[in-house]
Amino acid sequence: MAKRLIVKVGDELLRKRSREVTEFDGRLGELLDDMRETMIAADGVGLAAPQVGVLKRAVVISPDGRDFYEFVNPVIVSSSGRQICREGCLSVPGISGEVERPKKIEVLAYDRNGKRFVLNAEGFLADICCHEFDHLDGVLFIDKMLPGGR
Ligand code: CO
Repeated sequence: MAKRLIVKVGDELLRKRSREVTEFDGRLGELLDDMRETMIAADGVGLAAPQVGVLKRAVVISPDGRDFYEFVNPVIVSSSGRQICREGCLSVPGISGEVERPKKIEVLAYDRNGKRFVLNAEGFLADICCHEFDHLDGVLFIDKMLPGGR
């Protein structure tokens, strides 16, 4: 595993749409391992591949530093409720703000071996999923921030 550099806001890469993963190979596994290490080293709760300069639809999440999730080609298939979440982003240092997110989501995704799974998430985990999946479409939380953030 190797730590990778985190791309910061202003870099055009963060605004691009990431491509679907089609090869569930060793390179994907290495990318996910590196993302995990990079996220932990940066004290983050989630990281999307474009944040390390790779335009692939892959995300790692660890809401509490204990549980760990990997998503490849994730899609939110249903959502309900609303919550106001305080968010920051490793690619947007020094800024945090409130964003409205669904309270509950159902996610369809693949693991690193290409096995499909469904995850029902709510609260903080749902918030992180929404934030990280947005990165795959070039969307940052600052685009959705409610007035009053800084
Ligand atoms: Co982010």
